[in-house]
Amino acid sequence: MNRFEELTKRIQHCTDCPLSRTRTNAVPGDGPSSADIMMIGEGPGFHEDRQGLPFVGPAGRFLNELITSSGLRRQDVFITNVVKCRPPNNRDPMPGEIQACRKHLDEQIEIINPKVIVTLGRFSMARFIPGQTIGRVRAKARQVEGRTIYPMYHPAAALHNGSLRSVIEDDFRAIPSLVEQALPPEDPKPPAQQLDMFSQGR
Ligand code: URA
Repeated sequence: MNRFEELTKRIQHCTDCPLSRTRTNAVPGDGPSSADIMMIGEGPGFHEDRQGLPFVGPAGRFLNELITSSGLRRQDVFITNVVKCRPPNNRDPMPGEIQACRKHLDEQIEIINPKVIVTLGRFSMARFIPGQTIGRVRAKARQVEGRTIYPMYHPAAALHNGSLRSVIEDDFRAIPSLVEQALPPEDPKPPAQQLDMFSQGR
């Protein structure tokens, strides 16, 4: 089992916060471990909890449309959430739950090392751009921790507020060119060989 598979298994069996007691299935994420794009939502809903897969309910259908209409393919994108287990009755995840789950998200980012991270909604935005509102920062790509972060409204927002639909569609269309323009993500841990070179002063 490689590190990515091992992490997925660890998330499936995680009991580090109370959400593990009410879930049907944990939802680690879906997509290739070599994806250039990672999309991060809020947390699993009813359908995701049942199937153990992210974005398979109504918001997921809209996300699929957005991905396809922007010229991307869902199977090329890694899709996950800030919390991997469903908050009861789809309530907002609580700070302690987000904190308990953060190590899983951080490790997924480290392993996948995507060129672009698209944050869907305020909880995943806050992981990279704390203290902001989506309305202010949406569709403005920025470098955070050496990587391109692109904040967007959550697709479910358009299901509740139809006027956001075209905003989200427009914002989505920018993603392929962001990937083309993205600088290679900075490697937080230089490979052993490079470390050797540094330590030998060469
Ligand atoms: N909403 C999310 O934020 N994530 C999902 O997986 C489904 C709906």
